[in-house]
Amino acid sequence: MGESAKLIIGDKTYELPIVGGAENEYAIDISKLRAQSDFITLDPGFGNTGACQSAITFLDGDKGILRYRGYPIEQIAQQSSFVETSYLLIFGKLPNQKELAKFSDTFAEYSMIHEDMKNFFNAYPSNAHPMAILSAMICSLSGYYPELVHTHMSPEFFYRVVAQLLSQVRTIAAFSFKKSIGQPFVYPRHDLKYVPNFLNMMFSSPAKPYEMHEEVVTALKVLLILHADHEQNCSTSTVRMVGSSEANLYASISAGILALWGPLHGGANQAVIEMLQQIHADGGDIQKYINMAKDKTSKFRLMGFGHRVYKNFDPRAKIIKKCADDLLNKLGIHDPLLDLAKQLEEAALKDSYFVERKLYPNVDFYSGIIYRAIGIPLTMFPVMFAIGRMPGWIAHWKEMMDDPMTKIGRPRQIYTGELNRNYIPIDQRN
Ligand code: CMC
Repeated sequence: MGESAKLIIGDKTYELPIVGGAENEYAIDISKLRAQSDFITLDPGFGNTGACQSAITFLDGDKGILRYRGYPIEQIAQQSSFVETSYLLIFGKLPNQKELAKFSDTFAEYSMIHEDMKNFFNAYPSNAHPMAILSAMICSLSGYYPELVHTHMSPEFFYRVVAQLLSQVRTIAAFSFKKSIGQPFVYPRHDLKYVPNFLNMMFSSPAKPYEMHEEVVTALKVLLILHADHEQNCSTSTVRMVGSSEANLYASISAGILALWGPLHGGANQAVIEMLQQIHADGGDIQKYINMAKDKTSKFRLMGFGHRVYKNFDPRAKIIKKCADDLLNKLGIHDPLLDLAKQLEEAALKDSYFVERKLYPNVDFYSGIIYRAIGIPLTMFPVMFAIGRMPGWIAHWKEMMDDPMTKIGRPRQIYTGELNRNYIPIDQRN
């Protein structure tokens, strides 16, 4: 392959540099095209546009490969912890024992949120969606800890900010759940690790301590790890876009949470269960819903199916499906929605519509089954995704801030509106 590409427009030829990645990926650098010509490139949804170079996560959607900092997701999910995975994504290497112990201790040290923030929870109506609360609370941390709000930080300072944010998001999420069910908040405990600490804050009450099951802890840990990063997805691109104006980490992540909320992104886990509930209540007629998903006049889509990048099995979905089976078996739970989900998957994967478009179950298809089995309510599902995605957002924000190539995000457009015309005073309008 040459080092440049040629673009011919009319009688002019433009030479555009080719940029290569570590895994034989190539891009045509069009960043100077507008300066040399009158042309921009148009790519709605950025399906074919790279916005940055990144060393955090590699994925090959055709082969179903996902790696964090070079490590296969299958190995990380099975052998690592969420805290260790966070360290890996953010600091670029696996920590040694001492580094991991220090990182965990820092989590414990900063797990409490400012007592005054509890007033915020109390001010929300009990039926407020927890994603709205989470986003507002993360942004509000910048007000409660103004000393932590900097765009360019020393490594020591950044370390503290990271540990505090990763730890506090778990506390905030659990508090928003307690508020929604009208129970008193349960404070974080220093003696519990990341996932058990979260489960304890969610499900313990003064009346009844939470009985910790190892299989629940493992399943939740796996889910958090699988959600930890996924390169330039909608919410991560939002974090990068907001951060590119040099907005602080809290503001950038707060925006990322809101991008994640949508049902085409992190809200899909909630939407999948709602869809399965609807199919179940409707008599379990799988074919009816497959037909609806194929019908272009219907707005219905098979939630938890399809992906912008994966045109093969989403490797995370494979792990989650097995995890759901294992957990329900071990807990002795029979969830009719899991049976329905499997039937739906089987029918869709045989259907030419889904085969031709390479639509497979994605990360959100089976994750909700696990959350249900654990006892996490439906509206908290996207919050679980957000807790998991936090290290990825932080890693990308930091990578962007440290990258000398970073410029403020500012796409172009092709204008299709009215041409120049004179203002009409109101008394002369029809
Ligand atoms: N059900 C029915 N048809 C679908 C679906 C679906 N779930 N997904 C895509 N298609 C069809 C789509 O109608 C289009 O058909 P045609 O070529 O005839 O116009 C074709 O497949 C390509 O779809 P697209 O909308 O151009 O693909 P996209 O890359 O823009 O969208 C997606 C990707 C994930 C938004 C989409 O597949 C979808 O809406 N899926 C359901 C929501 C979902 O599960 N989201 C979670 C994604 S994974 C978690 C994460 O966000 O990271």
